[in-house]
Amino acid sequence: MSFLETVFTKAAALKRTVLFPDATDERSLHAARILADKAIVKPALVGIRADIETLAQSLNLSLENIEILDPTKHDRRIVYADKFYELRRAKGLKPEEAILTLRNPLYFAGMHVRDGYADAIVGGSISSTGDVLRAAIQTIGTAPGIATVSSFFIMVFPDKLFAFGDCAVVPAPTAPQLADIALATATNFERLTGETPRVAMLSFSTKGSAEHESVAKVREALAMVQSKNPSLSVDGELQFDAAFVPSIGERKAPGSPVAGQANVYIFPDLNAGNIGYKITERLGGAQAVGPVVQGLAKPYLDLSRGCKAEDIVATAAIAALMA
Ligand code: ACO
Repeated sequence: MSFLETVFTKAAALKRTVLFPDATDERSLHAARILADKAIVKPALVGIRADIETLAQSLNLSLENIEILDPTKHDRRIVYADKFYELRRAKGLKPEEAILTLRNPLYFAGMHVRDGYADAIVGGSISSTGDVLRAAIQTIGTAPGIATVSSFFIMVFPDKLFAFGDCAVVPAPTAPQLADIALATATNFERLTGETPRVAMLSFSTKGSAEHESVAKVREALAMVQSKNPSLSVDGELQFDAAFVPSIGERKAPGSPVAGQANVYIFPDLNAGNIGYKITERLGGAQAVGPVVQGLAKPYLDLSRGCKAEDIVATAAIAALMA
Protein backbone atom coordinates (compact mmCIF):
# COMPACT_ATOMS: atom_id res chain seq x y z
CA MET A 1 0.00 0.00 0.00
CA SER A 2 1.29 3.50 -0.75
CA PHE A 3 1.85 6.00 2.07
CA LEU A 4 -1.36 7.88 1.29
CA GLU A 5 -3.46 4.72 0.91
CA THR A 6 -2.28 3.68 4.39
CA VAL A 7 -3.17 7.13 5.75
CA PHE A 8 -6.69 6.89 4.21
CA THR A 9 -7.25 3.44 5.71
CA LYS A 10 -6.09 4.50 9.18
CA ALA A 11 -8.12 7.73 9.04
CA ALA A 12 -11.30 5.90 8.03
CA ALA A 13 -11.07 3.71 11.14
CA LEU A 14 -10.94 6.82 13.39
CA LYS A 15 -14.16 8.46 12.07
CA ARG A 16 -12.92 11.99 12.86
CA THR A 17 -14.89 15.15 12.08
CA VAL A 18 -12.82 17.62 10.03
CA LEU A 19 -13.90 21.23 9.45
CA PHE A 20 -13.32 23.19 6.22
CA PRO A 21 -13.45 26.95 6.86
CA ASP A 22 -12.62 27.88 3.24
CA ALA A 23 -15.97 26.39 2.28
CA THR A 24 -16.94 28.81 -0.48
CA ASP A 25 -14.30 27.23 -2.69
CA GLU A 26 -15.37 24.55 -5.14
CA ARG A 27 -12.27 22.45 -4.35
CA SER A 28 -13.35 22.29 -0.69
CA LEU A 29 -16.80 21.10 -1.76
CA HIS A 30 -15.43 18.46 -4.12
CA ALA A 31 -13.04 17.27 -1.38
CA ALA A 32 -15.86 17.12 1.18
CA ARG A 33 -17.94 15.04 -1.26
CA ILE A 34 -15.06 12.56 -1.78
CA LEU A 35 -14.35 12.35 1.97
CA ALA A 36 -18.02 11.70 2.79
CA ASP A 37 -18.50 9.16 -0.03
CA LYS A 38 -15.36 7.20 0.91
CA ALA A 39 -16.00 7.69 4.67
CA ILE A 40 -12.39 8.80 5.21
CA VAL A 41 -13.51 11.52 7.66
CA LYS A 42 -16.81 13.21 8.49
CA PRO A 43 -16.52 16.55 6.65
CA ALA A 44 -18.18 19.76 7.87
CA LEU A 45 -18.20 23.01 5.89
CA VAL A 46 -17.92 26.26 7.87
CA GLY A 47 -19.42 29.32 6.20
CA ILE A 48 -22.63 31.12 5.31
CA ARG A 49 -25.14 28.38 4.55
CA ALA A 50 -26.83 30.14 1.61
CA ASP A 51 -23.45 30.77 -0.08
CA ILE A 52 -22.36 27.14 0.32
CA GLU A 53 -25.69 25.76 -0.90
CA THR A 54 -25.69 28.08 -3.92
CA LEU A 55 -22.17 27.03 -4.85
CA ALA A 56 -23.05 23.33 -4.41
CA GLN A 57 -26.11 23.78 -6.63
CA SER A 58 -24.06 25.49 -9.35
CA LEU A 59 -21.63 22.54 -9.25
CA ASN A 60 -24.50 20.05 -9.22
CA LEU A 61 -22.91 18.57 -6.10
CA SER A 62 -24.93 16.88 -3.38
CA LEU A 63 -24.33 17.96 0.24
CA GLU A 64 -25.72 14.71 1.66
CA ASN A 65 -23.81 13.64 4.81
CA ILE A 66 -21.90 16.92 4.80
CA GLU A 67 -22.68 19.15 7.78
CA ILE A 68 -22.76 22.95 7.39
CA LEU A 69 -21.81 25.17 10.34
CA ASP A 70 -22.88 28.78 9.75
CA PRO A 71 -20.89 31.12 12.07
CA THR A 72 -23.53 33.85 11.66
CA LYS A 73 -26.36 31.60 12.91
CA HIS A 74 -24.81 28.77 14.96
CA ASP A 75 -26.21 28.48 18.48
CA ARG A 76 -22.70 28.47 20.02
CA ARG A 77 -21.53 31.66 18.27
CA ILE A 78 -22.03 33.89 21.35
CA VAL A 79 -20.38 31.33 23.66
CA TYR A 80 -17.37 31.20 21.33
CA ALA A 81 -17.18 35.00 21.07
CA ASP A 82 -17.19 35.23 24.91
CA LYS A 83 -14.49 32.57 25.21
CA PHE A 84 -12.39 34.19 22.49
CA TYR A 85 -12.71 37.55 24.26
CA GLU A 86 -11.39 35.93 27.48
CA LEU A 87 -8.45 34.44 25.56
CA ARG A 88 -7.49 37.75 23.89
CA ARG A 89 -8.64 40.51 26.28
CA ALA A 90 -5.13 40.86 27.74
CA LYS A 91 -3.96 41.65 24.17
CA GLY A 92 -6.46 44.51 23.99
CA LEU A 93 -9.37 42.76 22.22
CA LYS A 94 -12.79 44.39 22.77
CA PRO A 95 -15.99 42.29 23.22
CA GLU A 96 -17.52 43.69 20.00
CA GLU A 97 -14.32 42.78 18.09
CA ALA A 98 -14.58 39.22 19.42
CA ILE A 99 -18.14 38.95 18.05
CA LEU A 100 -17.00 40.19 14.63
CA THR A 101 -13.94 37.91 14.61
CA LEU A 102 -16.09 34.86 15.32
CA ARG A 103 -18.05 35.52 12.12
CA ASN A 104 -14.84 34.60 10.30
CA PRO A 105 -15.00 30.83 9.55
CA LEU A 106 -11.26 30.43 10.33
CA TYR A 107 -11.84 31.59 13.92
CA PHE A 108 -15.25 29.91 14.38
CA ALA A 109 -13.73 26.59 13.27
CA GLY A 110 -10.84 27.07 15.72
CA MET A 111 -13.13 27.65 18.68
CA HIS A 112 -15.42 24.74 17.67
CA VAL A 113 -12.44 22.34 17.67
CA ARG A 114 -10.97 23.94 20.81
CA ASP A 115 -14.28 23.12 22.58
CA GLY A 116 -14.17 19.51 21.38
CA TYR A 117 -17.13 19.58 18.97
CA ALA A 118 -14.92 18.51 16.06
CA ASP A 119 -11.45 17.00 15.76
CA ALA A 120 -9.41 18.95 13.21
CA ILE A 121 -9.44 21.78 10.66
CA VAL A 122 -8.11 22.08 7.12
CA GLY A 123 -7.99 25.62 5.67
CA GLY A 124 -5.93 27.70 3.32
CA SER A 125 -7.23 26.94 -0.17
CA ILE A 126 -8.52 30.56 -0.22
CA SER A 127 -7.05 32.06 2.98
CA SER A 128 -3.34 32.94 3.21
CA THR A 129 -0.93 30.87 5.31
CA GLY A 130 -0.51 33.82 7.69
CA ASP A 131 -4.30 34.15 8.22
CA VAL A 132 -4.69 30.39 8.84
CA LEU A 133 -1.76 30.28 11.28
CA ARG A 134 -2.88 33.37 13.20
CA ALA A 135 -6.40 31.92 13.60
CA ALA A 136 -4.93 28.59 14.74
CA ILE A 137 -2.51 30.17 17.24
CA GLN A 138 -5.17 32.50 18.69
CA THR A 139 -7.99 29.95 19.03
CA ILE A 140 -6.39 26.54 19.57
CA GLY A 141 -2.97 27.58 20.85
CA THR A 142 0.16 25.50 21.22
CA ALA A 143 0.39 21.94 22.56
CA PRO A 144 1.56 21.34 26.14
CA GLY A 145 5.37 21.57 26.35
CA ILE A 146 5.65 23.16 22.86
CA ALA A 147 5.81 26.95 22.39
CA THR A 148 6.33 26.98 18.63
CA VAL A 149 3.97 26.32 15.77
CA SER A 150 5.95 24.98 12.83
CA SER A 151 5.55 22.53 9.96
CA PHE A 152 7.06 19.58 8.17
CA PHE A 153 6.71 17.78 4.87
CA ILE A 154 6.66 14.03 4.39
CA MET A 155 8.93 13.45 1.39
CA VAL A 156 7.63 10.30 -0.27
CA PHE A 157 9.88 8.13 -2.45
CA PRO A 158 8.72 4.76 -3.84
CA ASP A 159 10.65 2.82 -1.16
CA LYS A 160 11.35 5.41 1.58
CA LEU A 161 9.74 8.17 3.62
CA PHE A 162 11.49 11.17 5.17
CA ALA A 163 10.34 14.17 7.22
CA PHE A 164 11.72 17.65 6.52
CA GLY A 165 11.06 20.46 9.02
CA ASP A 166 10.48 23.37 9.21
CA CYS A 167 9.89 24.28 5.57
CA ALA A 168 6.93 26.68 5.81
CA VAL A 169 6.34 28.56 9.06
CA VAL A 170 9.18 29.94 11.26
CA PRO A 171 11.50 32.15 9.18
CA ALA A 172 14.44 32.45 11.62
CA PRO A 173 14.06 30.00 14.51
CA THR A 174 15.92 30.57 17.77
CA ALA A 175 17.61 27.56 19.43
CA PRO A 176 14.54 26.78 21.61
CA GLN A 177 12.28 27.09 18.54
CA LEU A 178 14.57 24.77 16.57
CA ALA A 179 14.39 22.28 19.44
CA ASP A 180 10.56 22.49 19.39
CA ILE A 181 10.59 21.91 15.61
CA ALA A 182 12.78 18.80 16.00
CA LEU A 183 10.72 17.32 18.86
CA ALA A 184 7.37 17.92 17.12
CA THR A 185 8.59 16.64 13.74
CA ALA A 186 9.97 13.45 15.28
CA THR A 187 6.71 12.76 17.15
CA ASN A 188 4.50 13.42 14.14
CA PHE A 189 6.70 11.48 11.71
CA GLU A 190 6.29 8.44 13.95
CA ARG A 191 2.54 9.07 14.33
CA LEU A 192 1.96 9.32 10.58
CA THR A 193 4.36 6.68 9.26
CA GLY A 194 4.80 4.25 12.15
CA GLU A 195 8.58 4.47 11.64
CA THR A 196 11.05 5.15 14.46
CA PRO A 197 12.50 8.66 13.99
CA ARG A 198 16.26 9.17 13.62
CA VAL A 199 16.70 12.93 13.73
CA ALA A 200 19.52 14.90 12.07
CA MET A 201 19.99 18.54 13.10
CA LEU A 202 21.34 19.88 9.81
CA SER A 203 24.06 22.49 9.30
CA PHE A 204 26.89 23.36 6.91
CA SER A 205 29.18 21.90 9.61
CA THR A 206 29.58 18.33 10.88
CA LYS A 207 30.63 17.90 14.52
CA GLY A 208 32.75 21.03 14.75
CA SER A 209 34.16 21.07 11.21
CA ALA A 210 33.19 24.78 11.06
CA GLU A 211 32.48 27.49 13.61
CA HIS A 212 29.76 30.12 13.20
CA GLU A 213 26.92 31.49 15.33
CA SER A 214 24.40 29.60 13.16
CA VAL A 215 26.28 26.35 13.88
CA ALA A 216 26.35 27.13 17.60
CA LYS A 217 22.55 27.61 17.46
CA VAL A 218 22.10 24.11 16.04
CA ARG A 219 24.31 22.62 18.79
CA GLU A 220 22.33 24.50 21.44
CA ALA A 221 19.05 23.21 19.98
CA LEU A 222 20.44 19.64 19.94
CA ALA A 223 21.27 19.84 23.67
CA MET A 224 17.70 21.02 24.39
CA VAL A 225 16.17 18.20 22.36
CA GLN A 226 18.35 15.63 24.14
CA SER A 227 17.43 16.95 27.57
CA LYS A 228 13.68 17.11 26.77
CA ASN A 229 13.56 13.65 25.16
CA PRO A 230 16.59 11.55 26.20
CA SER A 231 15.29 8.42 24.47
CA LEU A 232 15.03 10.09 21.02
CA SER A 233 17.66 9.11 18.47
CA VAL A 234 19.01 12.54 17.49
CA ASP A 235 22.39 13.95 16.52
CA GLY A 236 24.04 17.10 15.16
CA GLU A 237 25.32 19.23 13.91
CA LEU A 238 25.43 17.22 10.67
CA GLN A 239 25.82 18.16 7.01
CA PHE A 240 23.20 16.57 4.78
CA ASP A 241 25.66 14.08 3.22
CA ALA A 242 26.88 12.97 6.67
CA ALA A 243 23.27 12.51 7.78
CA PHE A 244 22.15 10.65 4.65
CA VAL A 245 25.06 8.62 3.18
CA PRO A 246 26.24 5.78 5.48
CA SER A 247 29.90 5.79 4.34
CA ILE A 248 30.17 9.58 4.70
CA GLY A 249 28.37 9.48 8.05
CA GLU A 250 30.89 6.93 9.31
CA ARG A 251 33.81 9.07 8.16
CA LYS A 252 32.55 12.48 9.32
CA ALA A 253 30.63 11.46 12.46
CA PRO A 254 31.96 8.08 13.66
CA GLY A 255 29.83 6.47 16.35
CA SER A 256 26.83 8.73 15.67
CA PRO A 257 23.47 6.97 16.23
CA VAL A 258 21.97 8.93 13.33
CA ALA A 259 24.65 9.78 10.76
CA GLY A 260 24.12 7.93 7.49
CA GLN A 261 20.65 6.72 8.47
CA ALA A 262 18.57 9.79 9.35
CA ASN A 263 14.91 9.83 8.34
CA VAL A 264 13.96 13.14 10.00
CA TYR A 265 15.89 16.19 8.76
CA ILE A 266 15.69 19.46 10.73
CA PHE A 267 16.84 22.51 8.78
CA PRO A 268 18.51 25.43 10.60
CA ASP A 269 16.11 28.04 9.16
CA LEU A 270 13.25 28.55 6.71
CA ASN A 271 15.47 29.50 3.76
CA ALA A 272 17.29 26.16 4.03
CA GLY A 273 14.12 24.15 4.70
CA ASN A 274 11.95 25.65 2.00
CA ILE A 275 14.69 25.47 -0.64
CA GLY A 276 15.69 21.97 0.50
CA TYR A 277 12.23 20.44 0.22
CA LYS A 278 11.63 22.00 -3.21
CA ILE A 279 14.96 20.67 -4.55
CA THR A 280 14.10 17.21 -3.22
CA GLU A 281 10.70 17.43 -4.90
CA ARG A 282 11.75 18.93 -8.24
CA LEU A 283 15.22 17.44 -8.81
CA GLY A 284 14.93 14.38 -6.58
CA GLY A 285 11.47 13.33 -7.77
CA ALA A 286 9.89 12.99 -4.31
CA GLN A 287 6.21 13.63 -3.67
CA ALA A 288 6.02 16.37 -1.01
CA VAL A 289 3.05 15.83 1.32
CA GLY A 290 2.38 18.92 3.43
CA PRO A 291 3.09 21.37 4.86
CA VAL A 292 1.75 19.59 7.94
CA VAL A 293 1.32 22.33 10.56
CA GLN A 294 2.35 21.09 14.00
CA GLY A 295 2.89 22.26 17.57
CA LEU A 296 -0.78 23.17 18.04
CA ALA A 297 -2.90 21.61 20.78
CA LYS A 298 -5.22 20.25 18.05
CA PRO A 299 -4.61 19.91 14.31
CA TYR A 300 -5.26 22.97 12.14
CA LEU A 301 -3.63 22.26 8.78
CA ASP A 302 -2.85 24.71 6.01
CA LEU A 303 -3.18 24.18 2.25
CA SER A 304 -1.39 25.81 -0.63
CA ARG A 305 -3.72 28.15 -2.52
CA GLY A 306 -2.74 26.26 -5.66
CA CYS A 307 -4.00 22.96 -4.20
CA LYS A 308 -6.29 20.47 -5.94
CA ALA A 309 -9.32 18.74 -4.37
CA GLU A 310 -7.27 15.55 -3.99
CA ASP A 311 -4.62 17.49 -1.97
CA ILE A 312 -7.41 18.62 0.38
CA VAL A 313 -8.58 15.00 0.75
CA ALA A 314 -5.03 13.88 1.67
CA THR A 315 -4.54 16.77 4.10
CA ALA A 316 -7.86 16.00 5.81
CA ALA A 317 -6.83 12.37 6.30
CA ILE A 318 -3.50 13.47 7.79
CA ALA A 319 -5.32 15.92 10.08
CA ALA A 320 -7.54 13.03 11.23
CA LEU A 321 -4.48 10.96 12.18
CA MET A 322 -2.96 13.88 14.09
CA ALA A 323 -6.13 14.45 16.13
N1 ACO B 1 4.45 29.70 17.06
C1 ACO B 1 3.70 30.12 18.09
N2 ACO B 1 3.25 31.39 18.20
C2 ACO B 1 3.59 32.24 17.22
C3 ACO B 1 4.37 31.87 16.11
C4 ACO B 1 4.80 30.53 16.04
N3 ACO B 1 5.52 30.06 15.03
N4 ACO B 1 4.52 32.95 15.30
C5 ACO B 1 3.87 33.96 15.88
N5 ACO B 1 3.30 33.54 17.03
C6 ACO B 1 2.46 34.33 17.94
C7 ACO B 1 3.20 35.45 18.61
O1 ACO B 1 3.74 35.02 19.83
C8 ACO B 1 2.09 36.47 18.79
O2 ACO B 1 1.26 36.06 19.85
P1 ACO B 1 0.31 37.10 20.62
O3 ACO B 1 -0.58 37.76 19.62
O4 ACO B 1 -0.46 36.25 21.58
O5 ACO B 1 1.27 38.05 21.25
C9 ACO B 1 1.26 36.31 17.54
O6 ACO B 1 1.48 34.95 17.10
C10 ACO B 1 1.61 37.28 16.45
O7 ACO B 1 3.03 37.28 16.32
P2 ACO B 1 3.81 38.04 15.15
O8 ACO B 1 5.27 37.95 15.42
O9 ACO B 1 3.19 39.40 14.95
O10 ACO B 1 3.57 37.08 13.96
P3 ACO B 1 2.77 37.36 12.66
O11 ACO B 1 1.32 37.41 12.95
O12 ACO B 1 3.38 38.47 11.90
O13 ACO B 1 3.10 36.02 11.81
C11 ACO B 1 3.12 33.78 11.18
C12 ACO B 1 3.14 34.74 12.35
C13 ACO B 1 1.78 33.95 10.49
C14 ACO B 1 3.23 32.37 11.69
C15 ACO B 1 4.32 34.15 10.26
O14 ACO B 1 5.51 33.71 10.82
C16 ACO B 1 4.17 33.60 8.88
O15 ACO B 1 3.44 34.16 8.05
N6 ACO B 1 4.85 32.47 8.57
C17 ACO B 1 4.66 31.84 7.29
C18 ACO B 1 5.88 32.05 6.44
C19 ACO B 1 5.50 31.86 5.02
O16 ACO B 1 4.96 32.76 4.38
N7 ACO B 1 5.75 30.69 4.50
C20 ACO B 1 5.47 30.48 3.11
C21 ACO B 1 6.09 29.26 2.66
S1 ACO B 1 4.86 28.05 2.54
C22 ACO B 1 5.38 26.96 1.33
O17 ACO B 1 6.28 27.17 0.59
C23 ACO B 1 4.65 25.70 1.27
